[in-house]
Amino acid sequence: MAWHVAIKLSKLKPGKKKMRTVAKKMVLIGQVDDRYFATEALCRHMRWPLAYGAKVENDCIRCPLHQTTHKIDTGELVEWSPFPLFPPYGKLVGKMSKQKDLKIYETRVIDGNVEIKID
Ligand code: FES
Repeated sequence: MAWHVAIKLSKLKPGKKKMRTVAKKMVLIGQVDDRYFATEALCRHMRWPLAYGAKVENDCIRCPLHQTTHKIDTGELVEWSPFPLFPPYGKLVGKMSKQKDLKIYETRVIDGNVEIKID
């Protein structure tokens, strides 16, 4: 495990997210209030890039495509592909892939940068 600079603090704002490649991994880095988080960049459902349209609310990140939701502090799955509700297309698409938690990376702030810990 090693720490890697992911992004300058000045590039982030509360509620905003950025996708970056760090140590050959695509990661999503974001800010909620005065906290920072980092997750894998692609939705676990069908690999949508979460930087494009994902919402971060109530300590969860929700993919815009089929609304799969994970906790941003642990990556734990909250809801798997519930959208759209009718026709029941979302549930059908959800069954096409195995339910998985989202990978979360530890973050820290050093010298004006957000760093993340990667294997
Ligand atoms: S791709 Fe994200 S919920 Fe389907």
